[in-house]
Amino acid sequence: MRSIAFATLLAAITAGLAAVTAELSLRQGGSPGGGGNMVFLLVCTEPNLEPGTCETAGGLNTCTAFDAPFNDSIESLVNTFAGVACAVYVNDDCTGDSLIVANSAEFDNLGVSNPELNNALSSFQCIGTA
Ligand SMILES: *[C@@H]1O[C@H](CO)[C@@H](O)[C@H](O)[C@H]1NC(C)=O
Repeated sequence: MRSIAFATLLAAITAGLAAVTAELSLRQGGSPGGGGNMVFLLVCTEPNLEPGTCETAGGLNTCTAFDAPFNDSIESLVNTFAGVACAVYVNDDCTGDSLIVANSAEFDNLGVSNPELNNALSSFQCIGTA
């Protein structure tokens, strides 16, 4: 009985670790060759990457619009991927005022650091090979 309970516990821990590993891999941009599913940015509608207000965004060498509720509502963001630089823009089509979000760069409070971009970002593009 005791060994069965232990095996069950071990299986639960293993499953939990697999989930955490998958989440970390996602935040780091996925595995090489992941292509369009890779994640490069974490964007949030509140300052300081407030948990529960963020979404991940991917897509390489293509302009992607931030859909509602993120369009014109981003207040903090971070580039989570080593080796890829991104730029975020105030217009839908990657035009207008922009901000370079270099590898690992984090903007905790656009309202303070870049007021003209706070609650104004509408699209982004990440450049590089991953
Ligand atoms: C984002 O908001 C702007 C300004 O309201 C609007 O013109 C644009 O179509 C919106 N983009 C998306 C993807 O919803």
